[in-house]
Amino acid sequence: MAALEGAADAIAFSSGMAAAAACFELFRPDDHIICSEDMYGGTVRLLRDISIKNGLTVTYADTTDIQCLRAALLPNTRALFLETPSNPMMKITDIRACAALCKEAGVTLIVDNTFLSPYWQNPIALGADIVLHSGTKFLAGHNDTIAGFLCTADEKTGARLRMIAKTVGSTLAPFDSWLVIRGIKTLAVRMERQQESARKIAAWLYKHPLVTHVFYPGLPDHPGYEVNGRQSRGAGSMISFRTDSPETARKTLESVRLIIFAESLGGTESLITYPVTQTHPDVPAEVRDRLGITDTLLRLSVGLEHVDDIIADLRRAMEG
Ligand SMILES: Cc1ncc(COP(=O)(O)O)c(C=O)c1O
Repeated sequence: MAALEGAADAIAFSSGMAAAAACFELFRPDDHIICSEDMYGGTVRLLRDISIKNGLTVTYADTTDIQCLRAALLPNTRALFLETPSNPMMKITDIRACAALCKEAGVTLIVDNTFLSPYWQNPIALGADIVLHSGTKFLAGHNDTIAGFLCTADEKTGARLRMIAKTVGSTLAPFDSWLVIRGIKTLAVRMERQQESARKIAAWLYKHPLVTHVFYPGLPDHPGYEVNGRQSRGAGSMISFRTDSPETARKTLESVRLIIFAESLGGTESLITYPVTQTHPDVPAEVRDRLGITDTLLRLSVGLEHVDDIIADLRRAMEG
């Protein structure tokens, strides 16, 4: 993992959440952290129910807006934690610009790189201090294990995180390590094929009369298209889209046959998710509404099935 992320060190955890929990253990009571307001709901729950109890204070900000981030900085700010593309709205944050701001302010930049994987994006090369992965997703790649990683730009932070992992016992078990190594052997071919299919599916959804919006950073009219193009080598295979009504969204979820209606992402099987109830119920309702995580939003993780079969399944489920 250190080699894949261009990191000085990498530590394997029993899940992505265990990696996130260890990462927040780097900080002390009264430290302040700025986070993407649009990010995985489990991380929001971790901060709300555990880290805050441990004395951390958190500000959620629009990390795509550098002025907004600057305004959120406090004298006790110690970290900026972000996802790009974000989950589920696929917003793109300029990692280089955030790294410059963090350097100026003496703040640790942590990037959750789960959605693109090290195949498409390497945040440390862009100035990040720590990269987080849910290894459960693209790295293991087969929806059959749970794993997490922290990759660090410096050895000292790596040593601290290894001590935390060993002490709290959140390390990755041998068999799961083997499953992730098995997955990494095919990471490149899976990522290429899944992205190729995702591009075709995004283009198909874009023209579909029952789809009112497609959130995919590989579409030229995505607001983050240029920034993503500058900082990564691809747009990945995660697509969110909005249907014309909650009924269409529900019908699609209930009627897919090849695609599986389930949480998680990044595996060989295509998965469709309802963020409002599955991955993001822990985000406060008013924030969800403001961000657009509503009952018409669906998230698709494109797998390795033939792209024509995935499109045929979506067409039948949405129109049938
Ligand atoms: C972006 C992101 N980060 C972290 C996690 C947590 O990872 P895990 O499920 O391996 O605990 C997830 C899980 O969905 C995720 O989507």
